[in-house]
Amino acid sequence: MVRSDALQNFLDAAFVAFDRFATDIRSRNSIMQLFAQLDVPGETRTSTGKRLPVCERFLGNALETAATNPGLARMVARFKDIEPSMEWKWRSTYDNSASENFLVSHANGMIAGPGGLEERKDLWLGVTLMAPRVRYPDHKHAPEETYLVMSEGEFKQADNDWFAPGLGGSFYNPPGIKHAMRSGNRPLFAFWALRLDETRH
Ligand SMILES: [Fe+2]
Repeated sequence: MVRSDALQNFLDAAFVAFDRFATDIRSRNSIMQLFAQLDVPGETRTSTGKRLPVCERFLGNALETAATNPGLARMVARFKDIEPSMEWKWRSTYDNSASENFLVSHANGMIAGPGGLEERKDLWLGVTLMAPRVRYPDHKHAPEETYLVMSEGEFKQADNDWFAPGLGGSFYNPPGIKHAMRSGNRPLFAFWALRLDETRH
């Protein structure tokens, strides 16, 4: 398997940023293992990129804001190189915990993982963009997850209060925990890294 320089450069920058901002020891372990798994390239998808309307409207602004944090600027720059090849998608399943405007006001981009730029089953590395005033539905999944937040916006774990990690904030979602996010007056932009533990399935 051969990986493009653009994707490799993004992954290198993503590792530096996740490593720099992850404080939870469980995130740190997860990130170390996830990026070690990424040393072995997966299959590259060849389809052309696809943006959703929310990307056209808010991605440029979100990237500009994210890059104002010096610890995120390199990852943002490398992300711009791969983004045109990405296929942004709507989340197909959601319930009434989501805001009414949810569907057309969000986009998920998978970089490495199912349907990603690099197709693989052992991890999911991707990003979510939401327009202002949008609530993502409650959801849960078996893999543990580390977020790297690149904007304003609030997050929720289980039935705890909403919290705002801020630009460069990072937090850990244990396997199976219910979680959600919502934007305020500004777009929400956040990367997520999920490691599938083979022994847990
Ligand atoms: Fe999640």
